[in-house]
Amino acid sequence: MSSRGPAPSLPASTDRIRADIDAMFTALLSEPEDQSARLFEAMRYAALGGKRLRPLLTIASANLFGVPESYSLWAGLAVECVHVHSLIHDDLPCMDDDDLRRGRPTVHCAFDEATAVLAGDALLALAFEILADPATHPSAEVRAHLTVELARASGASGMAGGQMIDLVAEGIELDLDGITRLQRLKTGALINWCVDAGAILGEAPSDHRLSLRGYGQCLGLAFQIADDLLDHRGDEAVVGKRVGKDEARGKATFVTLLGEERARQQADLLVEQAIAHLHAFDRRAAQLETIARYAVTRDR
Ligand code: IPE
Ligand code: IPE
Ligand code: MG
Ligand code: MG
Ligand code: MG
Repeated sequence: MSSRGPAPSLPASTDRIRADIDAMFTALLSEPEDQSARLFEAMRYAALGGKRLRPLLTIASANLFGVPESYSLWAGLAVECVHVHSLIHDDLPCMDDDDLRRGRPTVHCAFDEATAVLAGDALLALAFEILADPATHPSAEVRAHLTVELARASGASGMAGGQMIDLVAEGIELDLDGITRLQRLKTGALINWCVDAGAILGEAPSDHRLSLRGYGQCLGLAFQIADDLLDHRGDEAVVGKRVGKDEARGKATFVTLLGEERARQQADLLVEQAIAHLHAFDRRAAQLETIARYAVTRDR
């Protein structure tokens, strides 16, 4: 990744969206004056930082259908809440047992395990509170649709199910189909939700929704392969998390199964396939194309 040229970055125009997401988290998570303040502090600690790729995807997809950014920002904030929830729990000693995240001590190290469990739970609940708010979309039907799809993407048939397979697979060998299913669930489901949410917010025709689903499926896989490659060869100081841990824990990844070079080729191929799904949108899909390329060239 970083060995393929200068460090890639997203366009400066995305800085404003990242700043908006930070500001929304800060506003929503101001500390109350009672003993629960510690929970809010931990949620804010975990929520700040990060590339914000999921909100960026949600907004870029919604832009295809002329959805006001005030709506897609809220939807993006909701999925980022689920994502941060998943990171806090993924780092716990009972899961990946990591002490570094986004360049800082993980939540259970900076606070304690009980606070980390509660902060993760509370962020998951916050996601659904945000989606239910009319600020996300004036139509209750659209909000219900976003909600049920995010519940599916986060739960036992989505991210949580994928995390279960990831942990069980530390002790067994998975073949290519098995790893593909694992990655689709643990990472792909939430990424898919982001692009699908744009179509739902825009009440898009089913053929457009289908094209975006094709893009999301390929991108989700490519994104996780890139994450696994960063674990294999990334620079800890840049990545902001410990590296070399997947092999040490016996994780089932494309890198452990195929080796670095073939995994990289697979990620590149998947990104081209993702972009091919966007052809019906012409140049309007330029933002989604940029994000897809960044997903596999990133160094963090
Ligand atoms: C890391 O996701 C966890 C995976 C699903 C691979 P990101 O690489 O998007 O993490 P942040 O949000 O930028 O920290
Ligand atoms: C985690 O995958 C995906 C999640 C659902 C959080 P990893 O365990 O590889 O993510 P990192 O490398 O710790 O960010
Ligand atoms: Mg994990
Ligand atoms: Mg992990
Ligand atoms: Mg990883």
